Amino acid sequence: MADDETILKAEGLSKSFGPIRAVDGVSLSIKKHSISGLIGPNGSGKSTLFDLISGIQGKFSGSVFFEGKRINGLPSHKIFELGLGRTFQTPRLFMGMSVLENSMLAGKKQKGENPLIAPLPERWESAEIDLAKKAQDQLRALEISHLYGQLSSNISGGQMKLLQLANALMGDPKMLLLDEPTAGVAPRLAQDIFASIEKQRDEKGTTFFIIEHRLQVLFKHVDHVFVIHQGRILAEGKPADIVKDQQVIEAYLGE
Ligand SMILES: Nc1ncnc2c1ncn2[C@@H]1O[C@H](COP(=O)(O)OP(=O)(O)OP(=O)(O)O)[C@@H](O)[C@H]1O
Ligand SMILES: [Mg+2]
Repeated sequence: MADDETILKAEGLSKSFGPIRAVDGVSLSIKKHSISGLIGPNGSGKSTLFDLISGIQGKFSGSVFFEGKRINGLPSHKIFELGLGRTFQTPRLFMGMSVLENSMLAGKKQKGENPLIAPLPERWESAEIDLAKKAQDQLRALEISHLYGQLSSNISGGQMKLLQLANALMGDPKMLLLDEPTAGVAPRLAQDIFASIEKQRDEKGTTFFIIEHRLQVLFKHVDHVFVIHQGRILAEGKPADIVKDQQVIEAYLGE
């Protein structure tokens, strides 16, 4: 498996909401094991692009390929099962459950979910304990393990973002789309989040595609940046080249 192999490819993606062309002919490729950023002004189509890739927007035009397989048209849970996960700009959590329960639930293919096995605790107890340990490790890495018993509705917005990230990592995805993972978290923790993203990439080979407004932090950790403006990719390249791009400066960085 060559390191520069493409894991995700989008071709001519377009989506309109009435007269608004939210995503307008986007084509891009993401390399396996890379960390890529997606930046652009408010309303430029970033979250909608993630919605199209991850299968949560009904009809749209264009194609999405994940590991060479065309995935558009598949329901989002199928796309997740193939190893492509995502987080949302506004965290989606089970608010009536504890922090630990939320992240345990995010673990893939749990034995106790099988109705034939569920009545036989001896068949799933040890797997359940392993899962709880894994969840605790993930929560610890993001500095929220002390909140494990708290009701998810009682934690702060920033902590919800961290919990959502922990949950996404619990599924051992091959690739993760993160929609503003550091919004609402303290600046120091934003650095730590990106450090743990990089660690996850280095240790597990996870590929990341990240929407982020905190450019200073993002640019330190990404290999490649895409700039989107009015639904179109305006520029792409290494962070050092993007900051010098005149079109990008005019459309976004110069704001
Ligand atoms: N469900 C929807 N119905 C109607 N219009 C929508 C819908 N979702 C997004 N839009 C519009 O599509 C455009 C792109 O929105 P999108 O949320 O993708 O932008 P964004 O780049 O993620 O912005 P932000 O940085 O504020 O999160 C905006 O004009 C937005 O108002
Ligand atoms: Mg958005």
